[in-house]
Amino acid sequence: MSQLPVDLPSHLCAGLELQVVPNAQPATPEQRAAILADPAFGQKFTDHMVVVHWSEDAGWHDARLQAYQPFSLDPAAAVLHYAQEIFEGLKAYQRPDGSIVSFRPDANAERFNTSARRLAMPELPPEAFVAACDALVKVDRDWVPNGSEMSLYLRPFMFASEPFLGVRPSKEYVFCVIASPAAGYFGGGVSGVSVYASEDYVRAVPGGTGEAKCGGNYAASLLAQAQAADEGCDQVVWLDGVERKYVEEMGGMNLFFVYGADPDNVEIVTPDLSGSLLPGITRRSLLQAAADLGITATERKLSLEQWRADVASGSMTETFACGTAAVITPVYTCKARTGDFVIGTEPGAVTMRLRDHLLGVQHGSTEDRHGWIHTIG
Ligand code: PLP
Ligand code: COI
Repeated sequence: MSQLPVDLPSHLCAGLELQVVPNAQPATPEQRAAILADPAFGQKFTDHMVVVHWSEDAGWHDARLQAYQPFSLDPAAAVLHYAQEIFEGLKAYQRPDGSIVSFRPDANAERFNTSARRLAMPELPPEAFVAACDALVKVDRDWVPNGSEMSLYLRPFMFASEPFLGVRPSKEYVFCVIASPAAGYFGGGVSGVSVYASEDYVRAVPGGTGEAKCGGNYAASLLAQAQAADEGCDQVVWLDGVERKYVEEMGGMNLFFVYGADPDNVEIVTPDLSGSLLPGITRRSLLQAAADLGITATERKLSLEQWRADVASGSMTETFACGTAAVITPVYTCKARTGDFVIGTEPGAVTMRLRDHLLGVQHGSTEDRHGWIHTIG
């Protein structure tokens, strides 16, 4: 980086000064261009990161925007033993006019604090969460790709850093934001995915941590995800942990089901927030977008059996997954021990209408009616 952006904030929030220590050896323009030409997902990282510390005595302190680099962590750090860790995922987009925006970062900040409370961690002032993301994007703005499905994926996270082996909430934490240029999570274009309904494992139960975005949920999902891959499927579909009957969500996405063959008279259904599934920001946005587009949207339970039966009868015409990383991805087939079924072989009309609408708002070609777009610069 030749020069620091002049409009970096001096503070992330009141009382939390941001120190800026530029990366002395950033990627060359050629190295960056090679990465941006084919970024894949989550494999390459930008030149900088934001790191903020918390301790019981000092609260949030020592905020730095610095070179992307490994942490030095005590082997007894609580996160390594008891997985006290939470994270978020959001994207920054480059508009055709060169401006950079992000999508609903306030909603991520809010969910981050919901996760923090569940994991007995300190909350971060939402303005500091957003300011940290913005500062990183400003410094690394040359890393924001400008293709239609491209973005800079931001990964804010927090972990327990106190070296202590007793089982209680840590007294020290680190908050960090890193950024990674991203293309499609499932490769390029709108390819449909196959899913495997896990009947051996559960992701979460009411009262557990399913509503929180904590690393432990994903650790617990990996064996089922590997089983899905062994079955030739892209993703696992979770059933509820109590009756093992109702569809909850996918490995890293929420699910929507489309009823009705007449595109002017369809209903979209998504599993209700049972207490054990992640309240996706894309899910929430699509419920609103459906209302804007005159599509009936309903939150209710749907069993795996009903899913299969409604596809067989033809009343359900499409299924799609949604999330920050995956945007909107059609689900073509579902495999389950109780019987496989095919939902479709090409992206459905409603899936594509909602997908185009959401991407349009994010990239600037569709009106932002709800103030979801946050301009970074
Ligand atoms: N469900 C899970 C388990 C996820 O990991 C994600 C991704 O963040 C989602 C749903 C979708 O959430 P969002 O739309 O906020 O990205
Ligand atoms: C996201 O969509 O931001 C996620 O966190 C999903 C993750 C599994 C990549």
